[in-house]
Amino acid sequence: MLTRGNSIIKGIETTEIVKLLNRAYADEWLAYYQYFTEAKVIKGIMKDAVFAELTQHANDELRHANMIADRIVQLGGTPLLNPTEWATHTNCGYEEPKNFDVVAILEDSIKGEQCAISTYSSLADIVKDKDIITYNMVSQILADEVEHEADLQDLHDDITEFVEHIKSTMR
Ligand SMILES: [Fe+2]
Ligand SMILES: [Fe+2]
Repeated sequence: MLTRGNSIIKGIETTEIVKLLNRAYADEWLAYYQYFTEAKVIKGIMKDAVFAELTQHANDELRHANMIADRIVQLGGTPLLNPTEWATHTNCGYEEPKNFDVVAILEDSIKGEQCAISTYSSLADIVKDKDIITYNMVSQILADEVEHEADLQDLHDDITEFVEHIKSTMR
């Protein structure tokens, strides 16, 4: 698409940006599905609080997928058309929930957020001073992922402290 909007991109090919965005797009769909599934199977102490957090994260990841798809189209690209491509294009992979206990689920999710933070941080470095629109979008998503990690870590710490407290009162 030859638009004035795309002509302001300098020092990087739009096809290269589309390629990188499609990888992040695959990550977002997998993150959405991971949170969606985790919220269904989760078990254990303070389950309701964790369920609410996982559900909110699932919504955020889907919103990120939407933002990225719109930007890909604006750049004249096509978002990945087949879900089988999510597995082949992802940076962060998919952490299949094997242990449904809240603490294990939170640990899997924290790992995912840490990978997302690294991915968006390097993406921001790549497009900085080259594609301001993608840079702004990536910065917004990065801020959400940083908040996700912190929220999950807080919940994880609250739960593990609470469990320790109960154990100490039983001794
Ligand atoms: Fe995300
Ligand atoms: Fe996230």
